[in-house]
Amino acid sequence: MSVGLVWAQAANGVIGRQGTLPWHLPEDLKHFRNLTSGTTVVMGRGTWDSLPEKVRPLPGRRNIVLTKNARWAAPGANVAHSLAEALSSADGDVWVIGGASVYAAALEFADHVVVTELQESFDGDVHAPELDDHWRQAELTPEWQLSSSGLHYRIVNYVS
Ligand SMILES: NC(=O)c1ccc[n+]([C@@H]2O[C@H](COP(=O)([O-])OP(=O)(O)OC[C@H]3O[C@@H](n4cnc5c(N)ncnc54)[C@H](OP(=O)(O)O)[C@@H]3O)[C@@H](O)[C@H]2O)c1
Repeated sequence: MSVGLVWAQAANGVIGRQGTLPWHLPEDLKHFRNLTSGTTVVMGRGTWDSLPEKVRPLPGRRNIVLTKNARWAAPGANVAHSLAEALSSADGDVWVIGGASVYAAALEFADHVVVTELQESFDGDVHAPELDDHWRQAELTPEWQLSSSGLHYRIVNYVS
């Protein structure tokens, strides 16, 4: 089994605002879909709630949702009450897709991290975790790309 983390962050580290994404970056949504299709995705209940209903559960993926609430259930969600339970119930490729506390807890189990960096800063209330020194970029830093939304982004791969 491989465990990866994937997120998109603003230049100031913001990843979310008031239960949603602070930006619209269509190229990143496509990248996220391509990366995670056919895999198991693990997310916190807050991230589940943040998904638009038409993509909840995320299609073509096994959706595992972490909650401490023993009564929580939702159509299409496989429920786990701890990260260990979530990871032990998964096989094949696993992508941890947020939010903040889930990323922080999952980092020690991950062998790769894929970060979409935005050149712009955004206000927000949820932040990306810090990657410590044992993470290194898998390749040279890619060039900034111009999104159809006018934002600038690049996708950086890290390995441990
Ligand atoms: N930019 C990005 O790439 C990205 C990715 C993901 C999310 N986001 C954004 O981030 C925000 C949502 O993230 P968030 O950090 O607020 O929430 P979250 O981490 O998705 O969800 C938090 C909830 O998950 C459950 N949980 C977390 N860790 C758990 C554990 N170890 N065991 C059991 N349950 C656990 C708890 O649910 P209960 O309260 O039900 O117990 C907790 O309240 C939204 O704004 C979203 O748009 C951005």
